[in-house]
Amino acid sequence: MKQLVLSKIAVGLWLSALLSACTSNPFTETMESPYIADPHSYARPDESRVDALHLDLRVDFEQRQLRGAAVWTLAPEHGDSLVLDTYDLNIDSVLVDLVPVAFTLSSKDPILGQALTLPLTPTAREVRIVYSTQPGARALQWLEPSQTAGKKHPFLFTQSQAILARTWLPCQDSPGLRYRYTANIQAPAGMMALMSATNPTKRSSDGRYSFEMEIPVPAYLMALAVGDIDFKAVGPRTGVYAEPSMLEKSVYEFGEMEAMLEAAEALYGPYAWGKYDVLVLPPSFPFGGMENPRLTFATPTILTGDRSLVSLIAHELAHSWSGNLVTNATWNDFWLNEGFTVYFENRIMEAVYGSEYAEMLAGIGYADMVEEIAELEAKGELDKTSLKANMAGTDPDDGVGPIAYDKGYHFLRLIDETVGRKRFDDFLRNYFTENAFSSMHTERFVQILKDSLGAEALAGIDIDDWIYGTGLPANCPKPVSPRFTRVDAARAKFIAGESVDQQQYAAWSTHEWVYFIRGFSAAETRLIPALDEQFSFSTSTNAEILSVWFSYVMKNQPGYAKKNGIFYKALEQFLVEVGRRKFLMPTYKAMKESGSIDLAKSIYAKARPNYHAVARQSVDALLGE
Ligand code: BES
Ligand code: ZN
Repeated sequence: MKQLVLSKIAVGLWLSALLSACTSNPFTETMESPYIADPHSYARPDESRVDALHLDLRVDFEQRQLRGAAVWTLAPEHGDSLVLDTYDLNIDSVLVDLVPVAFTLSSKDPILGQALTLPLTPTAREVRIVYSTQPGARALQWLEPSQTAGKKHPFLFTQSQAILARTWLPCQDSPGLRYRYTANIQAPAGMMALMSATNPTKRSSDGRYSFEMEIPVPAYLMALAVGDIDFKAVGPRTGVYAEPSMLEKSVYEFGEMEAMLEAAEALYGPYAWGKYDVLVLPPSFPFGGMENPRLTFATPTILTGDRSLVSLIAHELAHSWSGNLVTNATWNDFWLNEGFTVYFENRIMEAVYGSEYAEMLAGIGYADMVEEIAELEAKGELDKTSLKANMAGTDPDDGVGPIAYDKGYHFLRLIDETVGRKRFDDFLRNYFTENAFSSMHTERFVQILKDSLGAEALAGIDIDDWIYGTGLPANCPKPVSPRFTRVDAARAKFIAGESVDQQQYAAWSTHEWVYFIRGFSAAETRLIPALDEQFSFSTSTNAEILSVWFSYVMKNQPGYAKKNGIFYKALEQFLVEVGRRKFLMPTYKAMKESGSIDLAKSIYAKARPNYHAVARQSVDALLGE
């Protein structure tokens, strides 16, 4: 009850803040929320919590080091110690209200790192930690100029999700805990620095920048990037940051961002974060996108020139509600972030590009999900196919995949189809508003769902089976995409050696090409040279197409790499340059499973230094390094 009342107050404050255009800060009161232990954090927030952070860091490219201090303001009521998460940080000193104190660091757990424990007096207000990072800090990727588009300046970016924030700042690194922050960053003169906060649009002359994020966020949304970066607006609230040589192309590609933002608001309520900008990173960024508040980080591999991969922007934008407003309380509830976001992404795409387009995206998700379930079943790991995960003792990064995303999406789509879209949309809008700036557990979501929509309306859905059960429930919706049906017909003709109207190919988006290639079976590998001849897949500049093409060929006819120099060169260049895990894993896996592990290892030896730690960890595990 207490919690309900408080969350209503929080929403009231939030809405009034939106209305009064941020003249007052609604978050100065501590928002109590029930805390359920997070298996991936040492923090003991039931004892002591932090409210606000001030970060003061110098970015040293020569030493590959961040150096400075994290100053935490404590929530008023606290116990006699504070526990923070750290991972390979050099802690120089800890001061409580400016008085040095003795602190302890626990022994290092390879996944969780070390607990930093320090004593608090009852009246303590502020904890200052003077520290520096190590060159191998896992969240950070320090790029040589040669790894950037401009080739002249180094580049630094962070990736804090899931539990890597602790590798660059001491923090209570649990998605269930939020705090406001300000930061002073000293970058090399002439470079731009950006954070998940209010950002500059012009470079400072001396490399000094100040940031503020006045809305409380969890640690995994902390982000920093430093490089040769410029800004250009797309719309009143949207814009793009990129290296100068990439900027125009990026602005064109994301030209519909403002329309997406408006579509999102029309669906599920006002955008709470002020600005929505995208930073285009160098190609070693290990993900497609990362929803850092106010500043999505994105891979350059979505710059196809035809805006055909902008659903990724819709996805990261959708996280501004699902994830950044209502946040998974622990990484076991990750599907609440990603499944909701895939659903919301699809609705934005439908609103802006029409239902045929959105259904195509859903079709890809369905295929990914079915493939993943079959694979996990074959490995005897069906337990990994339930929506509610059990990640304790494992790295939550390993839980990123089609179960949380696509099984989550299909579950929500089933509810939508069962209760009716209007009712489901009303439900979601309320859900985001009433739970804004708080964290959510799977169990609480289910309760809210049942309370709001009524058991009767949901009678056809075995909710427990969807959430805790394994495999795919029999009533899973199956998207039907007319555009893909046409691709199926074209593929069948190609296989039969019949001619296909060339104009049809010309109208295909990236998704149709990906679906086209994925639909060839092992029985059709004799067609590989003909496919390459006709469609020039090996010289495509589209990373999605290259990635499925490389996987298909290496899985079914690895000898093609030896015979065809153009193919081999493209494969090697792609794997050396692009560090996006989604592309690396299937390609290396195809090589491994078709007896080409030596080739995989020799390319990886060359490519590995270019990869972010997150990608390295995954490929190392796959290739048994
Ligand atoms: N938040 C995720 C990325 C992530 C998840 C990083 C877990 C670390 C741990 C992001 O929103 C995401 O889902 N990215 C996808 C894009 C997509 C599904 C359109 C990606 O990177 O491929
Ligand atoms: Zn996501």
